[in-house]
Amino acid sequence: MIRLEDITKTYYMGQRELTVLRNLSFRIQRGEMTAIMGPSGSGKSTVLNLLGCLDQPTSGRYYLEGRDVSRLNRRELALIRAEKIGFVFQSFNLLPRMSALDNVKLGLRYAGIHDSGLARDALARVGLADRASHKPTELSGGEQQRVAIARALAKKPPLILADEPTGNLDSHSSAEIMAILTELHREQGNTLVMITHEADMASHCKHIIHLKDGEVVGE
Ligand SMILES: Nc1ncnc2c1ncn2[C@@H]1O[C@H](COP(=O)(O)OP(=O)(O)OP(=O)(O)O)[C@@H](O)[C@H]1O
Ligand SMILES: [Mg+2]
Repeated sequence: MIRLEDITKTYYMGQRELTVLRNLSFRIQRGEMTAIMGPSGSGKSTVLNLLGCLDQPTSGRYYLEGRDVSRLNRRELALIRAEKIGFVFQSFNLLPRMSALDNVKLGLRYAGIHDSGLARDALARVGLADRASHKPTELSGGEQQRVAIARALAKKPPLILADEPTGNLDSHSSAEIMAILTELHREQGNTLVMITHEADMASHCKHIIHLKDGEVVGE
């Protein structure tokens, strides 16, 4: 599903340059559940943003389903994101003025899908059928993250990327979110890549990639 070859990422800020990923190479098989772990600042989110086609490497190649996506333009990257990738973030990133259902529908619309049935199904699958009309402020943190998961999964993308999806939740909600992600991963057969600091969560994953100072130090 994913093949990174010798990826480097350097940020240029005026006179200063900062290389945050070096010679990064790894593969992730289709349908695999993978954790990315490592200390703060080790480059985890930078890698996830590259995998999600939100950003591009400075050098190296990224093959997504066999296609080299490391040199595409913004428009092409946006198309790949819409078609293939669902994102879940630590801070949920829901639109505050919209109901849970409208947030999920908007996610689908970005992928060119106009189908409120699919949005309702996705909410039902995360156990929130009875919260469809609630706005984010009228939901608990765990429920907001479930809406975000419904939004990511409604279009049934082959790749789900989650950046510390339980980072803002208590241990009870974290366990619930993990259960939902694992369950939907099993049902939909998607490839799931998740950043986490918690060994507990990584223990659900067959594949763990350890980063340190922008390099893979273990797999
Ligand atoms: N847009 C940017 N411009 C310049 N430097 C950046 C940029 N984004 C990230 N960095 C730097 O790159 C390094 C890696 O950042 P990254 O966000 O990938 O770390 P992380 O492993 O996700 O950390 P955390 O666990 O704290 O989320 C950090 O030192 C950060 O300061
Ligand atoms: Mg991060």
